[in-house]
Amino acid sequence: MPRPRSAALEPPPSLGERLPAVLNLCQRLNAERNLPALLDLLARESTRLLWAERASIFLLDRERMELETRVALGSEPIRFDARQGAAGAAALRGETVNIRDTRRDARFYSGVDATLGFRTRNLLAVPLSNHEGEIIGAFEVLNRRRGAFGPEDEDLLRALAAQAAVAIETAQLVSELHAHRDRLLSENVQLRKEVRGRFAPGSILGTSPRIQRIVQIIERIRDASVDVLITGESGTGKELVARAIHYTSPRAAAPFVALNCAALPESLVESELFGIERGVATGVDRRPGKFEAASPGTLFLDEIGDLSAAAQAKILRVLQERVVERVGGRKPIPVDVRVVAATNKRLEAEVERGSFRADLFYRLNVVRIETAPLREIPADIPVLASHFLARSCRELGRPAKTLGAEALRRIEVYPWPGNVRELENEMKRLAVLAPGRVVEEADLSENVRAGRAGVVPEAPRPGTSPGSASPRLPEAVEALERRLIEDALAATGGNQLRAARALGISRQGLIQKLKRYGLYRPIRGARRSAAAS
Ligand SMILES: Nc1ncnc2c1ncn2[C@@H]1O[C@H](COP(=O)(O)OP(=O)(O)OP(=O)(O)O)[C@@H](O)[C@H]1O
Ligand SMILES: [Mg+2]
Repeated sequence: MPRPRSAALEPPPSLGERLPAVLNLCQRLNAERNLPALLDLLARESTRLLWAERASIFLLDRERMELETRVALGSEPIRFDARQGAAGAAALRGETVNIRDTRRDARFYSGVDATLGFRTRNLLAVPLSNHEGEIIGAFEVLNRRRGAFGPEDEDLLRALAAQAAVAIETAQLVSELHAHRDRLLSENVQLRKEVRGRFAPGSILGTSPRIQRIVQIIERIRDASVDVLITGESGTGKELVARAIHYTSPRAAAPFVALNCAALPESLVESELFGIERGVATGVDRRPGKFEAASPGTLFLDEIGDLSAAAQAKILRVLQERVVERVGGRKPIPVDVRVVAATNKRLEAEVERGSFRADLFYRLNVVRIETAPLREIPADIPVLASHFLARSCRELGRPAKTLGAEALRRIEVYPWPGNVRELENEMKRLAVLAPGRVVEEADLSENVRAGRAGVVPEAPRPGTSPGSASPRLPEAVEALERRLIEDALAATGGNQLRAARALGISRQGLIQKLKRYGLYRPIRGARRSAAAS
């Protein structure tokens, strides 16, 4: 078929004349982030610039030693062995391959023509190398409209290839990032669903009126964004309740941020809660505080009874005004958070003693949830125990176990000073240590078996067995103290801070006593700081 003379036979412009078009193409390549669109643009424009009938970009799959190309935008990619043909030689050996007449050149591989129904008369192929000099494919133009490709064309195609390789790698990276992001997003949706299920009010087990009342309150305050105060002994489920409040509320999709006020040194209170602006101290980066991080979700202020007077005042202000100011910042930042506070202290007593601000107490005490010590809900012990035993067996990969009648009786009468957490730990221990499928009385830890919960001293009490010599008071007191400490540590899984709190003494005081009774096991960090001081 005769072609229009002007398009086919006009001589191609010189390299210099083509420069503006080349620069324009480079700009467009750099702006295109979609890989198929980029390859299409590259093929179309280089066909024009090199006065060719067709251009192809081949991407190298090193693992399979294959080249992949698309004939047109949206078409299925075709793949072939990279060890054959001119594009393969360019991609695998980095050569510039200029075949002036395919009929007389052994380097030409006709397989691709056969697949595509095209007839190649002459071709020019160059490697596509990235920044690091690694070859990622080949760039090929076919059938110069007149004559064959010359040295100027080689220079131009190599220059275009260098630009194209960078743009292709960027587009590949962007598409990988997008795929990665999509995967993370869908994973996140899945995890959120799981977390919500895990912390829904249904996760609070127990049918006793005390527990049911708590579940009821959580349901009732679901849509009202009031602050909540949770009080109760250690291990009674305060954090569990706080999460249930968050995950049933309309804030469930926003963050739940927990902050342990007891672990917060005075010097960090403000920056942790309200954030900090860059440059306040050397090496400090701009960082949002917990109030901002939790917005528009829930901020869980755990152990609120341990806040210093200064920190109490600062928190009260935020609760009243709902704005925070970062350390070193000028402008107030509005925050939309529900605050759920918890403590195992009797806050009313702390208010009376003057160690907790009355106004903060009343501000938090709008909705109050009091968690129940396990000994006060004995009817719920069996269901909790079986739940934890089954879960521990499952999580620790042990065969399922059940509680024998005698073991269960012991569990029911034991007073559980460490509450649900202690029960949970006991069941974890049984999941690992009880040898049979049915837990026997003898498998229980010593305290539970003896039902002594750290209140009955091992030494006989004066006057309980007439005729026996009464023990001397100091030894009896020591024995009692030692037993109480051991039990408190067992109940808190060895956590010295919690144990000290349960015993009503300071951690330092507990450590002294542990040393006196030869029970002290330094933790690694503690030893180092002791050596340093
Ligand atoms: N009613 C309950 N149903 C199911 N699990 C519970 C219940 N109460 C507590 N737990 C579990 O007991 C453990 C201790 O609960 P949690 O950490 O919420 O206690 P806490 O009151 O915050 O204790 P602490 O004052 O020592 O921080 C958790 O594993 C929690 O899931
Ligand atoms: Mg807690």
